[in-house]
Amino acid sequence: ETATSSRKRDHLQICCEQPVEAGDAGFGDVRLVHNALPECDMDAIETKTRFLGRALGSPLFIAAMTGGHPDTLEVNRRLARAAERYNLGMGVGSQRAALEKPELEGSFTVVREEAPHAFLCANLGIIQLRDHGIEWAERAVEMIDAQAIAIHVNSLQEAIQPEGDHNAEGCIEALRNLCNEFSYPVIVKETGSGISAGTARIIRGAGASAIDIGGYGGTSWAKIERLRANSPELADLGETFLSWGIPTAVSLCEVRTTGGPIIATGGLRTGVDIAKAVALGADLGGMALPLLKPAMESDDALFAAVEAMHRELRVAMFLTGSRSVADLRHARTYITGLTRQMIENSD
Ligand code: FNR
Repeated sequence: ETATSSRKRDHLQICCEQPVEAGDAGFGDVRLVHNALPECDMDAIETKTRFLGRALGSPLFIAAMTGGHPDTLEVNRRLARAAERYNLGMGVGSQRAALEKPELEGSFTVVREEAPHAFLCANLGIIQLRDHGIEWAERAVEMIDAQAIAIHVNSLQEAIQPEGDHNAEGCIEALRNLCNEFSYPVIVKETGSGISAGTARIIRGAGASAIDIGGYGGTSWAKIERLRANSPELADLGETFLSWGIPTAVSLCEVRTTGGPIIATGGLRTGVDIAKAVALGADLGGMALPLLKPAMESDDALFAAVEAMHRELRVAMFLTGSRSVADLRHARTYITGLTRQMIENSD
């Protein structure tokens, strides 16, 4: 068992057994404006949408979580079954462990076996991209026959985890090279600290096809790494950075000004949050933690969770008079409180 692989198992276990969320993604400050005369049939509302040229069943995206340890295989199998059943896009977790040790591929390849038609997104850290180049990106995509690759950025986690990489130099160039040469769409994805307008412009300038906000206010790597910390110093560091990051709703308003497709992930907890994210400019709303718990339980628990999100999304669409996701993108919102104050400080 490699260090990367056992870390994957630790993360799943911590996320299931302990409180790993921190802060506020800002969706409580966002209200969709109620339409008292929606003049549409709720049961005829279309939740289907498109992303990077692909038709999807709904804007719910199964965010990157796991793979790379044998114990993660069943979770990925269930998530993939849900992706196939509801025609949802799905990201796998970082494939680094399986790229380092191909015997671990099974926990990733199961995803394509269970979801032969789904839009799948490969996943690799930007540090691994910089250090191993386009070849690792190609292997990651081929491993699951993916339609796109997410390159995740996680400086906060790298800074506070015991085995973290502290040198982020050369990452933008590595990203630019990948976007220039790769034949698949590249998505740049944060993992809980959000993306600013300035960073989004750099990412788009490098040639990325889409951005996954990965904003603050949901699963917190400061919290997870604090729980994993092997020294009081690192535990204190995690504690201090519990409130670091750009809340998802704020990040969304920053990134939407730069144009291009957006996945909003980080602290979305209901179908109403997905609707709010779409109204604020997201193409898809990603969820990790809310799907992980039912995915550890059973297929039925996971399907029930997905259906609950869809039911809530549909009601929110009805009450805003949105017959389609395209209509929902024009739904009006009220933005109050800290979220409003932060947006007023956007550049
Ligand atoms: C993640 N996330 C993640 N992201 C990524 O790009 N590569 C990865 O390997 C992982 N691994 C991972 C494991 C677990 C157990 C969780 C819960 C999450 C981050 C994830 O995709 C998402 O951006 C954040 O979790 C925020 O969304 P939620 O959890 O607040 O809905």
